[in-house]
Amino acid sequence: MNALNDFSRLEPAVFVKAKENFGTPVYLYDEALIIERCKAVLNMPNAYGLDVRFAMKANSNRTILQIVDQQGLLIDASSLNEAKRAILAGIDPSKIFLTTQEVPAGQERNDLEELMKKGLKYNVCSVRQLELIADFARENHIDLSMRIHPGIGSGESATRNTGDKYSCFGVHRSDLEDALAFGKEKGLRFTEVHVHIGSGGDPEIWRSNIDLELGIVETYFPDCDTVSFGGGLKEARMPGDICADIDFLGSYAKKRFEEFYQRNGRKMKMEIEPGTYIVANAGYAITEVLDKKTTGEDGFHFIVVNGGMEINARPTLYGSQHPFYILSKDGSLLSTDFDLPDTAYEAIIVGRCCESGDSQCLDSQHNIVERTMAEPQIGDLVVIGGVGAYCSSMTPFNYNSHVQIPEVLAAADGTVRLIRKGQSLEQIVQNEL
Ligand SMILES: Cc1ncc(COP(=O)(O)O)c(C=O)c1O
Repeated sequence: MNALNDFSRLEPAVFVKAKENFGTPVYLYDEALIIERCKAVLNMPNAYGLDVRFAMKANSNRTILQIVDQQGLLIDASSLNEAKRAILAGIDPSKIFLTTQEVPAGQERNDLEELMKKGLKYNVCSVRQLELIADFARENHIDLSMRIHPGIGSGESATRNTGDKYSCFGVHRSDLEDALAFGKEKGLRFTEVHVHIGSGGDPEIWRSNIDLELGIVETYFPDCDTVSFGGGLKEARMPGDICADIDFLGSYAKKRFEEFYQRNGRKMKMEIEPGTYIVANAGYAITEVLDKKTTGEDGFHFIVVNGGMEINARPTLYGSQHPFYILSKDGSLLSTDFDLPDTAYEAIIVGRCCESGDSQCLDSQHNIVERTMAEPQIGDLVVIGGVGAYCSSMTPFNYNSHVQIPEVLAAADGTVRLIRKGQSLEQIVQNEL
């Protein structure tokens, strides 16, 4: 049994309490697990120091940001608004690293400049971005970071591979010399080099990028003092999934940084920016069974619950599998993917949206697939696990005019409290003219 997905981490009573106090559907986050994950990554072996940034695109809730900030993690933001959101949560701009596809214009450009003057680190992701930011950086003596497109990547699905030729993140190696010549002409310093190969990919490719990136730093970046390997540490959500081994990856990187120092006399800091690894397994979506249907003798059993792609779009988008915990109304645990009773049957869990893809049971080819579970009754709970990352922050939550659902924290002190209210219908329509 995979300890990280062991249901016993949160007692079934906590799910019932969340349901009784806040209704369903609702997201529930396990603070103790988030803290445990923060400590684990901060303890990753390293040679000359380690900074860990939380990739806030995974989960941007203010309380979650405050928890990781208190643990000593910095922030990886992927838009100016994300950076502003972190600041609204009380996080200092100097703790924020911005990796984005645009240099904003107008008032937003002014806001970006203000934040850079306060210490936000800008990660140049294209030649165009470099051209747009160069004069401001030089005039204000601000050092920059550069994201490199390494040409090789890996992700849990093709759309989450950010390092191969099908994605366009970072300055491609074929543009690197021109970009650096331009930077030199402008008198700029690149003190950080960044590569993010993808999300949830092969840990072996993550390891091989350590060598690739350090080679690029050695050849091209004499001013670099920090090397970021991005996020993408693979998390295990389902039985049989294999999680990235951060001790192994850290030890490997440590050795390579030490060898780099022996060759070049430069002690560089390591940086990583995980999102999934910190929060994915700390999140649950609690839904309630509304209906049960079948599609005939050669068909399937369907369980309709009151939250689907608008609370967890990962199956629809990527064919991702999430663990299901089936609870009776009174909170008895009937089955988990880690512990199935003999009476378990095959069924398909779907949401309420008018779309056959609104299913929690899809494979990577977008086929509807059955899953094994205890048979729930109307009103029982289907808890979807592994939804702490890229669910609340990424779902099409107003599709079919459903409202964005509340978020609740199972706090480390045992209390269960609301950390974001649910949306109202009025809020959906309030900007319409
Ligand atoms: C630049 C960057 N850093 C970090 C991450 C976090 O990735 P993960 O959640 O897989 O750790 C992402 C997500 O794709 C990203 O684009």
